[in-house]
Amino acid sequence: LSQYPHINKGLAGIVAFSSNKSFIDGEKGELIYAGYDIDTLAENASFEEVCFLLWNNRLPNQTELDDLNTKLQNSRELPQPVLNYIQNTSKNAEPMAVLRTAVSMLGDFHKVEADDTEEFRINKAITITAKIPTIIAAFDRSRSGKDIIEPLNEKSTAFNFLYMLNGEEPGEEAEKTMDLCLILHAEHGMNASTFTNRAICSTESDMYSSVTGAIGALKGPLHGGANQQVMNMLLDIDEKDADPVEYIHQRLDAKEKVMGFGHRVYKTMDPRARILRGMSKQLSEETGHTDLYEWSEAILETMKSEKDIDPNVDFFSATVYYSMGIKPDLYTCIFTMSRVSGWTGHYIEQAENNRLVRPRALYIGEKNKEWVPAEQR
Ligand code: SDX
Repeated sequence: LSQYPHINKGLAGIVAFSSNKSFIDGEKGELIYAGYDIDTLAENASFEEVCFLLWNNRLPNQTELDDLNTKLQNSRELPQPVLNYIQNTSKNAEPMAVLRTAVSMLGDFHKVEADDTEEFRINKAITITAKIPTIIAAFDRSRSGKDIIEPLNEKSTAFNFLYMLNGEEPGEEAEKTMDLCLILHAEHGMNASTFTNRAICSTESDMYSSVTGAIGALKGPLHGGANQQVMNMLLDIDEKDADPVEYIHQRLDAKEKVMGFGHRVYKTMDPRARILRGMSKQLSEETGHTDLYEWSEAILETMKSEKDIDPNVDFFSATVYYSMGIKPDLYTCIFTMSRVSGWTGHYIEQAENNRLVRPRALYIGEKNKEWVPAEQR
């Protein structure tokens, strides 16, 4: 016991890895992906350029970007058994659970072993990243009794996702909005799902296993699952015709967490929330859902004045997706569609300079207990 007296509950503040992937200044509200500020990327990059950046630690030239786009376009289709699973599983299944199982199943169609060269690992990252949007859209259409739409062999990840989901080609604005959401969610340091992914990689397990584990971690409401809960909260306020400020006071009085607020690292506004807030405002005006946006602002003000807690990435992403007509239980899947680029980037980095992840626990149980046979207990 005396050898390990201090416990960092939740590993708060522990630095366990070095990484080129992202830098967060939680005091200033600054986020950098591999050297580029999030505002610069939001203004200029495409999601595919961000993928390349996270896998290679540099931006692609035009030929490399064209090559990546072609590879992604050629990798979007799903193996028939995965499609069969998506069509035959329960229509009431949680989309994140289906996504987790389908990604795990994809591993059956690749040699499941430690990926041994960087090029091989990047190709696997491309394959997984390309197929996730197809899985999400296929399950949503299948559970709604609609035909599954095959991916196009052209166009961006954002375009294809919206096309496969809705069955019609998205306009330029919708594609741009989705692309921006994918850029904003791509990477974020040693969050719980990235840590999970690194821990799995550190055992020299394969990339499908690490992404499957990471999806399981992201699904939880304290992590990526919060965006769906934010929307449920806003819809609950609407259904009950409640006053949003009173609603939040009641939650706080009951010592409940308000979803979409708080962060382990940020002590100020999450820079992604700042960008999404602007998008949410603009979209709400365009679509006429201004009430939801106004409630969000009222909730933000209440959380700031009552608890001095700021919104995180999940707060305004909810209303952005809602304005795009996307069902709330797909929001965390969209987070996954993006974050897979960061996870696989970390996998590649971890595999290049690996050491088994193996912390310790402080044993607080008894010792030297006497054995009592079962029939005498
Ligand atoms: C993501 O790590 C990442 O980078 C994650 C992420 C990424 O991109 O990967 O940014 C994505 O996961 C965003 C977070 C989504 N989760 C939520 O929105 C769920 C609601 N938020 C919280 O439960 C909480 O803020 C966490 C889980 C995000 C952070 O938890 P911590 O660091 O363990 O903080 P805590 O729970 O110990 O809270 C500290 C204090 C407490 O008050 P006191 O007991 O000290 O009085 O702040 C309060 C908490 O009660 N608090 C909240 C709150 N968040 C913190 N009170 C009400 N509502 C909240 N949301």
